[in-house]
Amino acid sequence: MKQDLEQLAAKAIAEITSAEDTETLEQIRVRYLGRKGRLTLQLRQVGQLPAEERPAMGQLANQVKVRLEKALEEKQQALTVTGRGPQDALDITLPGRRTWVGRCHPLTQVTREIVDIFRSLGFGVALGPEVETDYYNFGALNFPPDHPARDMQDTYYLGEEILLRTHTSPVQIRVMEGQEPPVRVVVPGRVYRNEEINARSYTVFYQVEGLAVDRGVTFGDLKGVLTSFVEQFFGPRTKLRFRPHFFPFTEPSAEVDISCFLCQGKGCRVCKQTGWLEILGSGMVDPAVLEAVEYDPEVYSGFAFGMGVDRIAMLRYGINDIRLFYENDLRFLRQF
Ligand code: DAH
Repeated sequence: MKQDLEQLAAKAIAEITSAEDTETLEQIRVRYLGRKGRLTLQLRQVGQLPAEERPAMGQLANQVKVRLEKALEEKQQALTVTGRGPQDALDITLPGRRTWVGRCHPLTQVTREIVDIFRSLGFGVALGPEVETDYYNFGALNFPPDHPARDMQDTYYLGEEILLRTHTSPVQIRVMEGQEPPVRVVVPGRVYRNEEINARSYTVFYQVEGLAVDRGVTFGDLKGVLTSFVEQFFGPRTKLRFRPHFFPFTEPSAEVDISCFLCQGKGCRVCKQTGWLEILGSGMVDPAVLEAVEYDPEVYSGFAFGMGVDRIAMLRYGINDIRLFYENDLRFLRQF
């Protein structure tokens, strides 16, 4: 019996070693260790041996069993790692695993689109600091000290004369200080206001500013540039409307509305039944602003405008809560 057991073990190990897949391995397991397996039968026979032979044979049979189980297990692992087991077989009918590709934030996308249109109209791009002085944010833009116009924009002060810019207009001053006319720039950037956070307003948002200064620049030029922008951005059938307004740094000033692109001006929920959507502020650069940068207002004139990127993006995509732009929820961001 000892010989039988050793032969059986050698044969089983050889079969296990040459098995090429887990199915074959399972057949080997059943053949030797199954309920009617060869080794199982041998183990049963140990009971019929004479009493003095039983312990030694029993021990040997058990050792063989342990060896086979170990060999089976090792082979099973080896086959699984190399991918030849059924659980790792390549199933070409399965859908592929999706890898997410990064992309720009919707506000970045809209900013770039706006800037690209103005570049095509001959505007360059300028940037400025988000931490500003009172002079650039207000003083040079013709906000008199203690004038109520400053209350239009609730300001985060960092020090007595230092603040977080409330608009991109201070970059107008920086650009004009740095060069002589003609000036044609747009300024994208982040601005800050100490406002209550709700669906319509946030403490941080984005603007694109525009400025053109040269000899003989007129309100007609402003209208032409903005009309071209609106037609490119919102579609060629979009209409514009200029409404008189007040800004300290422009005179005259106007707010610009576009015909509601959702209802084509018929009146809907988004335009609050008016048929119009306000999208930007604009005007002719106030002579006091030109004087602040030592441009002669008798020689030069200019127009300026400023628009809120968040508001424009909300209108375009039908987003009803500005906070969505700042929460970085991928379920929102992946839609753009
Ligand atoms: N700075 C203004 C604001 O943040 C927007 C604005 C209005 C900018 C008229 C301009 C302008 O350049 O001409 O509310």
